[in-house]
Amino acid sequence: MNDEGKNKTVLITGASGGIGYELSKIFLSNGFSLIITARNKEKLEQVGQSLSENFKVDIDIIPADLSQKDSPFYLYDAVKRLGRSVDILVNNAGIGLYGRFIETDIETELEMIDLNIRSLTILTKLFVREMVERNAGKILNVSSTAGFLPVPLFSVYGATKSFVLNFSQALAEELRDTKVTVTTLCPGPTKTDFARRGNLEETRLFTRPMNAEIVASLAYKGLMEGKRCVIPGFGNKMLWFVSHAIPPGILAKFTKIYMERKV
Ligand SMILES: NC(=O)c1ccc[n+]([C@@H]2O[C@H](COP(=O)([O-])OP(=O)(O)OC[C@H]3O[C@@H](n4cnc5c(N)ncnc54)[C@H](OP(=O)(O)O)[C@@H]3O)[C@@H](O)[C@H]2O)c1
Repeated sequence: MNDEGKNKTVLITGASGGIGYELSKIFLSNGFSLIITARNKEKLEQVGQSLSENFKVDIDIIPADLSQKDSPFYLYDAVKRLGRSVDILVNNAGIGLYGRFIETDIETELEMIDLNIRSLTILTKLFVREMVERNAGKILNVSSTAGFLPVPLFSVYGATKSFVLNFSQALAEELRDTKVTVTTLCPGPTKTDFARRGNLEETRLFTRPMNAEIVASLAYKGLMEGKRCVIPGFGNKMLWFVSHAIPPGILAKFTKIYMERKV
């Protein structure tokens, strides 16, 4: 085990599966202490216990539905009650919803906005202040390549991830003169439970998803180096350039083709 993270605590949201789970394993193998959170208490407890056994460390778990109004504040207070200060905050929990906006469920979309935007903003606000006071700390905010451009059939999700990307980049610049860094992770399609949950599995976009372990290891490397943005994979990096060179109306037309279901 590497001791890069000795005496340092990481808080990871959405750590019970997918990218958050892979990040948890990487932080543990680098000697960090972990506080993990997700909504499903039973699954979180199982994940916490198996990580604890595999890495021979205690892991703190705090179940919370971060789409609920008071939950991010509750999570912050629960971390304080543990007597811990957070050296690295990973805002990873997020959901998507596929479909034509005129047909999708508004309640799920509002839950998405509350989770992907509201909770991420509150947690960043609460923890970044302490980091700046200590003049040390790192934040990893998980956006998406969907944040680069308009995404028909995934319109609200894409817009939430544009918020995450632009907010995080702006904050990183505000903190330029401190030792606190903000890194935005922009994965493209990745093999996790996200596509099944968001009803995206049959789209052309998910023809060749990336491995979550690789995405997490690139995110970890970029975070530790203090990079402002991590875009895993050559195709996803190319998309960033293309999305900044082509007008949004034309981009939307092409993106829609990728978002349609395979026939
Ligand atoms: N997979 C992709 O293709 C992809 C691509 C680009 C960006 N991303 C982003 O990557 C991040 C991680 O996604 P993933 O692919 O790893 O998805 P995932 O496998 O579905 O994992 C999502 C995690 O978030 C938790 N979560 C969901 N709703 C929550 C809520 N209301 N409160 C607290 N925790 C909640 C889930 O646990 P519970 O359900 O138990 O709460 C789970 O631990 C998300 O922000 C997603 O938008 C994913």
